[in-house]
Formats: sequence, C-alpha cells, structure tokens
Amino acid sequence: MQTEQTTQKIIVIPGDGIGPEVTEAAVLTLQALGAGLEFTFLDRINADRYLRDGVALTDGELEEVRTAGTVLFGAVGDPRVTNPDYARGVLLRLRTDLDLYVNYRPAVLLDERLSPLRDESRRGIDCVVVRENTEGLYTGVGGSLRTGTPDEVTVDQETNTHLGVSRIVEYAYGIARRSVCMVDKSNAVRFGGQLWQRVWRETRDRHPELDSSHLYVDVAAMKLVKDPASFDVIVTNNSYGDILSDLTAELAGGLGTAASANINPRTGMGLYEPVHGSAPDIVGKGLANPAGAVLSAALLLRDRGLKSEAEALERAVRRTVAERRCTPDLGGTLNTRQAGEAIRAALD
Ligand code: NAI
Ligand code: MG
Repeated sequence: MQTEQTTQKIIVIPGDGIGPEVTEAAVLTLQALGAGLEFTFLDRINADRYLRDGVALTDGELEEVRTAGTVLFGAVGDPRVTNPDYARGVLLRLRTDLDLYVNYRPAVLLDERLSPLRDESRRGIDCVVVRENTEGLYTGVGGSLRTGTPDEVTVDQETNTHLGVSRIVEYAYGIARRSVCMVDKSNAVRFGGQLWQRVWRETRDRHPELDSSHLYVDVAAMKLVKDPASFDVIVTNNSYGDILSDLTAELAGGLGTAASANINPRTGMGLYEPVHGSAPDIVGKGLANPAGAVLSAALLLRDRGLKSEAEALERAVRRTVAERRCTPDLGGTLNTRQAGEAIRAALD
C-alpha cells in the first residue's frame, strides 16, 4: 500500500451521526503524533445540508478532495433522509469518481476477551477482507417499472468488468502473506461468477508462492466463524465484501473497532473510514467507540509512508483496550472523548 503521493494535506469529512464524534478523536490523535499533517475540514457535507438544499457533494468539493488526494471520513446516513441518493451521492461517488477500487478491511483480534467465540483455539483472527469497491451491485445500474404500484418491477444489475476483477484479485495476491481465498457465488450467479473464476485461476497460477483457495460466500460465512484463524486475505466483490467485513469486524473485537481504507494503489489516492455507519441509536450519548476511526487514521499514516507513527497508534489502541480504558462496547466505562484521550495518553 505504498503510494507515490507526497502531499500531507488531509481532507476531513466528519459526516453525520457519530461520524463527527469519532473523527474528532482521530484528528486529535493524528495531531498528537505530530506527523506534520495539515487538515482541511469539509464539515458542510452532511444530511442537514442535503435536507435543506438537496446537495450531497458538489463538483467543487469533489475536486478539492481529488487535489488533496487523502480523506479522513466519518460516516454518512441520517434517519431523516430516506432517499438513497444522499449516501450514494457522497460516499459511493467519492469511491467511484476517485476510482478507489480497493476497500482494504483488516480484522485483527485486539484482545482475547473481545472474541465472541467460546472455543479459544479458534479466536486468533488476523485477516484482511479485500473488497472490490467500484462495481458489483452498487453501481446503480438498473431501474424500476410501475414504481410505487402493486405491479412494481425492479432490476439492480451486477456489473463485473475484466479490468475491475483483475485489478482487485491482483491486489489481493500482492498483499497476501500466506494465502488468498477468493469468495464468490459462481454456482448461482452465472456470468459474473465465470469471470471471477477465470481471472482468479489465472492470477493464482502466477502466484505459486501463495496458497490459493476458493469458497462460495455462504460457506465462507460459516468457515469464518468455525475457523477464522485459517484466513489471511479474502478477496471478493462489493456486496459480499461489505457483509463479510462486518462479520470479521465482530470476530476481531466489534464493529466499533473496525478500520478501512478505500484506495487506488495506482494513483495513491485514499479515503480512510471506520467500517461502521453513523449509528443514530447512540449519537450524542458518548457511547461511540473512536477506535475504528483512530485505526483508520493508522492506515492513512501507513499509506503516507509514516509506518512507525502508524504502529505507535495501533499499539496505543491495543494498550487502552487491554487496560479497559475504552468505551462500554469493549468493556470499559469511558465516553468517546475520554477514550480518545486515553489513546493519546498511551502513545509512546
Ligand atoms: P451502524 O454501523 O451505524 O450501526 C450498527 C450498530 O453498531 C448500532 O447498534 C450502533 O450503535 C453500533 N455501532 C456502530 N458504530 C459504533 C461505534 N463506533 N461504537 C459503538 N457502537 C457502534 O449501521 P446501521 O445502523 O445499519 O446504519 C446507520 C446509518 O449509517 C444508516 O444511515 C446507514 O446507511 C449508514 N451507514 C453508513 C456507512 C458509511 O458511511 N460508511 C456504513 C454503514 C452504514
Ligand atoms: Mg457495511
């Protein structure tokens, strides 16, 4: 995940709900590290503006992001907004228009006691879900007929291109340490399934140094619970990656701890965000765990070439979790702000 980009200007989009709460912790932690990063806040990108003006993301904002090349993102989503055009217009547009084709979602067990699995021998999860991030079911290709009537017909098409599949599978093989497991549903989804199978076999044959395997997505979900430690890199399409990465997040300590990077390894652009959403059920209560946002900031640092800073940050999060200086979802008693302070205090 090394990049060619040298600028250290970071765009911050806190978004909605707990997005601003956890993003504040991430920015303060990056500042505490003194890594020489410069932050520009685009906090006008949120549901309030969409409800008021019908604007999700302007072309000017997109260009500002493109010029900076690096974004720290909170979450978007608000119960008052029922039109999917809002979330699509912000996050999916950024992922698509900036061609951030890799969604890198690591899952490493933060602390033994956080595993939901009873059997100790299964617990040690340390894997990465590499999710294709620009195609699949999320492109918005489709339509509806007789909308809103009892005769409504809807079609959402799944788009798989040779370019899209080859570059994500190649990326997965490029970062794997031990093995790559390709996950699809090619026994039921015919044409895209064949494309994923063909590209995977060709890529596998070019990487004899790594173990390769294939699972259908239903079996992959089962095996992730049965034997999570057996996985290294899982590569899959947009929707399966979305779902399986919530599962791996829970196996590694909970959704509040899960980090992700949306990147284009060729241009060096990246958008870093916790896996969780805007969590309207806990907004304003101080219950939001900032760890996912802070660990996403660590992924940002690593991609900017600041490896030792990234490791310091990861160590600090681990330490606070081990000492229960964390939010209630991880067994602590701290609120969001205090948990962020605890992480900063634990930096060595
Ligand atoms: P969610 O991830 O916001 O919440 C799921 C559950 O996990 C909730 O019970 C929540 O309280 C809990 N949770 C989430 N983050 C947490 C944290 N940091 N600390 C402690 N607990 C946490 O998913 P949900 O409820 O399906 O979606 C809520 C809104 O967020 C929707 O509008 C959805 O569209 C949006 N969303 C946005 C995403 C993004 O911006 N990347 C990703 C997923 C959902
Ligand atoms: Mg998701």
